[in-house]
Amino acid sequence: MGKKQVTVIHGPNLNMLGKREPGTYGSESLSEINDALRKKAREKNAEVDIFQSNHEGEIVEAIQGASGVCNALIINAAAYTHTSIALRDALLLLDVPVIEIHISNIFKREPFRHKSMISDVVTGQISGLGARGYLLAMDAVLEMIGA
Ligand code: DQA
Repeated sequence: MGKKQVTVIHGPNLNMLGKREPGTYGSESLSEINDALRKKAREKNAEVDIFQSNHEGEIVEAIQGASGVCNALIINAAAYTHTSIALRDALLLLDVPVIEIHISNIFKREPFRHKSMISDVVTGQISGLGARGYLLAMDAVLEMIGA
């Protein structure tokens, strides 16, 4: 049996983690988070494919590309969470576990962040646990897919 594959997608402005509003998003950079995700997957002999984009259409294409390829998806759609029907429609292509993650607690913030366009089409959501939310999501999907 081939290796299980987990796709991780980071949305707009997450390339600025570490520098961006550290009081809200913490001091860890995206590459530190990605390294920790790769390490965790490696421990379970799984492969990780990580993608970041500031462009909605590129994220749609990354989800389309993951369809039929990945065994699970972890996505922080960032600001597109609150606006993007296109991302929601793309996620509906997937029939594997999908975890929506937010570093901050979106429900504790401005009202426009309380609505997620994707939360009812994903398997589960992690919000407000900081960057460790990504690692918890990785633990969860690795277990779900039997890696
Ligand atoms: C975020 C929350 C979003 O509201 C925001 O637009 C982001 C990051 C988070 O990880 O907490 O860019 O998804």
